Amino acid sequence: MLALTDFSFEFAGRYLFRNASWHIKPGQKIGLVGLNGTGKSTLLRIVTGEYELREGLLTKPSDLKIGFLNQDLLSIDYTSSVLRVVLEGRKDLAALDKEIHRILDHIEHTPDEKSIQKLTELQDQFGNLGGYDWEANAEKILEGLGFATADLQKPLNQFSGGWRMRAMLAMLLVEEPDLLLLDEPTNHLDLPTIQWLEEYLKEYRGTYVIVSHDRTFLDRTIEYVAEVAHQQLFHYKGNFTQYLEQKEERDEMMQRRFDNQQDFIRQQMRFIQRFKAKASKATAVQSRVKMLQKLDKIEVLEDETRDLNIRFNIRVTPGKHIVNIKHVTKSYGDLNILENAEGEIIRGDKIALIGANGRGKSTLLRMIFGSEKYDGNIENGWNVEPSFFAQHQLESLNLKNDLIQELATVGGEYSENELRGTLGCFLFTGDDVFKKVKVLSGGEKSRIALAKTLLTQANFLLLDEPTNHLDMFSTSVLAEALNAYKGTFILVSHDRTFISNVANKIWWIEDHKLKEYPGTYEEWEEWYEKRKKDKTLVLPQKEKPAEKKQEPREHPIPKVSKNAMVQLEKKMEELEAKIKTLDAAKAKVEASLNDPDVAIDFEKIGILTKEFQDIEDQIGKARQSYEDAMEEWMEENPQ
Ligand SMILES: Nc1ncnc2c1ncn2[C@@H]1O[C@H](COP(=O)(O)OP(=O)(O)OP(=O)(O)O)[C@@H](O)[C@H]1O
Ligand SMILES: [Mg+2]
Repeated sequence: MLALTDFSFEFAGRYLFRNASWHIKPGQKIGLVGLNGTGKSTLLRIVTGEYELREGLLTKPSDLKIGFLNQDLLSIDYTSSVLRVVLEGRKDLAALDKEIHRILDHIEHTPDEKSIQKLTELQDQFGNLGGYDWEANAEKILEGLGFATADLQKPLNQFSGGWRMRAMLAMLLVEEPDLLLLDEPTNHLDLPTIQWLEEYLKEYRGTYVIVSHDRTFLDRTIEYVAEVAHQQLFHYKGNFTQYLEQKEERDEMMQRRFDNQQDFIRQQMRFIQRFKAKASKATAVQSRVKMLQKLDKIEVLEDETRDLNIRFNIRVTPGKHIVNIKHVTKSYGDLNILENAEGEIIRGDKIALIGANGRGKSTLLRMIFGSEKYDGNIENGWNVEPSFFAQHQLESLNLKNDLIQELATVGGEYSENELRGTLGCFLFTGDDVFKKVKVLSGGEKSRIALAKTLLTQANFLLLDEPTNHLDMFSTSVLAEALNAYKGTFILVSHDRTFISNVANKIWWIEDHKLKEYPGTYEEWEEWYEKRKKDKTLVLPQKEKPAEKKQEPREHPIPKVSKNAMVQLEKKMEELEAKIKTLDAAKAKVEASLNDPDVAIDFEKIGILTKEFQDIEDQIGKARQSYEDAMEEWMEENPQ
């Protein structure tokens, strides 16, 4: 359906891809994964043709319809209603519909034979293309994505960014393009909507590529993985968890091959060292030196986990009471959010505020921060210095600034060196600091916004979906930083793993009141399930983690058999030849393994991997025998 062959791509001399390849086949459900800034969004723009390839080949049928969900869609100003915009996703039906109406109008005034026949034809065509389910289908999708029926007629440009994004997603789902590209579709969605989308995509029959950092979501929606790393694309068959398993296997295999080769090199070096001054061994030494020079060195691709290093410090210690919420009422028109709600935040609280979209979580954060009106009383305690991180923080970054300038907007008391230091902790090094905010990837923008939050040294953080855009690695570093944080925080997140890792209290809004559970997310979940059944509070039991036993490892001790010198040398020669043959066989299997077509064929991969391991084992054994023989030989041939 679409092939990228041997392509390379760079921004200002910095290569994101080098000789990578990708074949997308009809019906494939692919997850495009990789750390922040590795080039996933860029790759999607290469696929759509927006970025032109100067090295390599992009082949696709000229009439291939590609639908692309990305953050840029937000800047389109739609004045028509939500439903209309979404219906327009099916341009063919929209055009037919228009034509049918035109003819109907015409017939009303002058009904002639020809027009009526034309109308029947068009209506047939309309029906065949699914025209009669068109609107119902669009409404179903919009409802699934959380739109209320009453909202469907409102102009799209009256909605917030998150909701406009949902409408764009709905439009693409209605359109059903040949190839659907979704760049972080879950970022603006709450849990129930994410779950709806998972179900929808499970049933979806087309081809799609999803970029996401949400492991659970990927596990439920994809069957193939394309990983961006080391300026390459690595292809796997399976969902995200299976990909991680295969990746680990490959890494281990790679490490084993590396270790074997290093052993081999050491052996040869020992031989060379020992006999280099001996005239009678000159040829043998020479041949080994040559062989080492010709050896294809195996490199272990270090995992790209980087030294993201964040610590949130506080400037001053506040009093025990951070925030007091008393008799607070809030509504938007008819929509009641809170009614006479109470709550209290104590120093050291690490609160996760959870619940569906539209319950007012972000509103509550803004009220606590003081940037949203309400009735009642919310008071900050003594010495409390709050800092707010929110999605709009990302949007309020000044696109024209370079990174140093952007950080400097926090306040003047930092020197350029300190700012550079902070940028370094957030993985912006070298020339990166002169990048413009405009070119940053989603995750990089989040990192800059977090860096700004950190520089405030506030003792009370309000974080609205801080892990959106962050890759799994950065998310876990952020979790660690929040765990080590000496201050207090309240955060909104839909990332279950993240909440479990950082929160010691759970808040949610129920019956327009604030509810608090004094425990972790898992404990809350268990309690919540129980309460659903008997409506009484039950304190959950803490489970102790099971102790893991280390398996004893076996170290086989090689046996050395006594042989005559000549025989020994012959044996060594034979072993060398054998290793050479095995190496060649291994190279062949390896080449097949790296073939992108094979890489996604689960069965073939299995067979090849098995074959590969067999050869590896044989090589290992042969090398061991060789080393044993050499030891023995050296003993008999002292310098
Ligand atoms: N026009 C540009 N000029 C220079 N550098 C750019 C440009 N566009 C993107 N980059 C850089 O290229 C790298 C890849 O960006 P891209 O947006 O493709 O990453 P990504 O894999 O989608 O990351 P994320 O997971 O954070 O969304 C980033 O380091 C980004 O700063
Ligand atoms: Mg991206």
